[in-house]
Amino acid sequence: MVENANITAYMKSKGFDDYETFYKWSLEHRDEYWDDQAKELHWFEPWQKTFEWTTKPFFKWFVGGKTNIVYNCLDRHMDTPVRNKVAFHWEGDNGETRSMTYEQLYVETNRLAKGLQNLGLKKGDRVAIYMPAILEQIIAVLAVARLGAVHTVVFGGFAANALRDRIIDAQARLVITADGNHRGGKLIQLKNITDEAVAETPTIEKVVVFNREGLDVSMKEGRDIYWHDLLADIPADTVVPCEQMDSEDLLYILYTSGSTGKPKGVVHVHGGYAVGAYATTKFVFDIKDNDIFWCTADVGWVTGHSYIIYGPLMTGVTSVLFEGTPAYPNPDRWWSVAERFKVTILYTSPTGIRGLMRFGEEWPAKHDLSHLRLLGSVGEPINPEAWMWYRHNIGRDELPIMDTWWQTETGSIMISPTIIQPLKPGSATRPLPTIEADVVDKNSHSVGLGKGGFLIIRHPWPSQMRTIYNDPARYQTYWETLPDVYFAGDAATIDKQGFIRVQGRVDDVIKVSGHRLGSMEIESSLVSHPAVAEVAAIGKPDELKGEHVKVFVILKNGFEPSDELAKELKLHVRTTVGALAVPEELEFTPSLPKTRSGKIMRRVIRAVSWVSRSVIPVHWTPEHKTYPYHCVPDYKNRSRQNLVCSCFYSRGHIHLVTM
Ligand code: PRX
Repeated sequence: MVENANITAYMKSKGFDDYETFYKWSLEHRDEYWDDQAKELHWFEPWQKTFEWTTKPFFKWFVGGKTNIVYNCLDRHMDTPVRNKVAFHWEGDNGETRSMTYEQLYVETNRLAKGLQNLGLKKGDRVAIYMPAILEQIIAVLAVARLGAVHTVVFGGFAANALRDRIIDAQARLVITADGNHRGGKLIQLKNITDEAVAETPTIEKVVVFNREGLDVSMKEGRDIYWHDLLADIPADTVVPCEQMDSEDLLYILYTSGSTGKPKGVVHVHGGYAVGAYATTKFVFDIKDNDIFWCTADVGWVTGHSYIIYGPLMTGVTSVLFEGTPAYPNPDRWWSVAERFKVTILYTSPTGIRGLMRFGEEWPAKHDLSHLRLLGSVGEPINPEAWMWYRHNIGRDELPIMDTWWQTETGSIMISPTIIQPLKPGSATRPLPTIEADVVDKNSHSVGLGKGGFLIIRHPWPSQMRTIYNDPARYQTYWETLPDVYFAGDAATIDKQGFIRVQGRVDDVIKVSGHRLGSMEIESSLVSHPAVAEVAAIGKPDELKGEHVKVFVILKNGFEPSDELAKELKLHVRTTVGALAVPEELEFTPSLPKTRSGKIMRRVIRAVSWVSRSVIPVHWTPEHKTYPYHCVPDYKNRSRQNLVCSCFYSRGHIHLVTM
């Protein structure tokens, strides 16, 4: 396996047989490495320069090159045996199945592209995609990008307000949605939610509706059109040539949470993103011709963009797309999908594993998972218990687990083992080639082995976000928080062997079941309720979800705390942000700790709330101490200078960041 690994073949072509020497070489030959990767893809016109800073921290990759990521996902395979290969095996929530070859996907993408063109869609226009995990969701993404338009996929679990805000920020002209769909047996009324959102979005001209469930939804005359009507007269041999895009032209905007109430529109481009997604899929998952690859994420998150759609399609592999939930109707649903489609590579999240662990080992044991050869994990730190369970019950105690660290902003995997390297439970191990990751102090100086600090990357890479849509200043903060480096927002350590352990966020991002939420998004939702004066939202350690949301609420005069009001407030979050953001705990409080300038000190609240002791903040520093969850020392009697300024929870331990 190691001899035949894709990464081994590349290393050998450069004259290396061990990863560490090769990695060091890659840091000094960054352009050569990325040129080699990019040359495996199709370019309408070659690039003149591999990398260029424009005005720091803005940069370009493959300068002057012309390509289209969709050409690399589909057209390029039409002259090869991949044409007749299954691109996706799909399984619906209710158990129905469908498979689509690369050729069929090509045909349907062209037909939809033609339909969208008939609606007037053109290069540069923005399109919101609010769909369930069905093959048409993939077709929609590919058709939009084929035309050179920009997609913004919104996770189907987001509520109307969240969809509205994203449409408004992106100034989308079109929404592609479905009437509704079932997930875990529950009906989600996607078209109704879309109608509510679109009622307040001045830029939307057309709503394309895929009829998934045969629901009787309202169709607004002149605005709404059914997918099948749009495509009715478009023959199967229709070809809409891929728009020839500059490497740096926008491919998509994906909204993610940050430390303000407004989600950030992370911008990715055709050239560099394609190269990054392609190279990482090929090397980390070691994709081979006969693999069946299953990434269990939702297309609404970056993992779905890079490792359900773009990366796998560029490598020509067969993938699985699943509409349902892991434990519906029974806790072996995932294992049954993996068995029936003979999945060889499974890429999932620690939350998914923990969620299924609690039902017991007997559920995976019922299934033949012998086709599996490689496992992956993403989204949050994987605790050793989950790692061991995954390896034992799914990986037969022998399969490698790729713990992959990356972010919406990084576009593709940054830190991960490949199958030729040693593994360590709970560690994403080593950076991928050319990725100059380090753990540093507030001056961007390496803290050295064994110490805690901030996780950073010293140089741009091709699939990195180019900006925050409509907000370049917000993009700049990634490179300005710590001098001259990309600051990821995570804390980490590098152990004595040089293995990186990512510990968790050091900002106000909350990770619920691996999904990213901003404290301020939840707070803004709650303060829009008439009873609420002020709110602080924090993440609290949760054995299953990694973190859950806890809110502290100050009521306006004239309102009294009650269970009914607490329920109503939770429902308010559900209907304005989405089920994902609903606080598990809600505490009414008469006051909240604030700075002199009146800013709520969430880190203090977090610390106090976690350790139930009075903790007062001081200055920020990466020095931190780690304690088992229930043994955090009492800070009550210490002088202010020694107190905690932040804390985070990781793998059963509380980390207190102190001076
Ligand atoms: O805190 C890190 C955590 O997820 C954050 C990025 O979240 P998002 O943009 O939603 O992307 C998730 C999927 C790529 C990171 O800042 N994270 C992601 N992967 C890992 C991780 N933490 C520890 N280990 C990982 N493997």
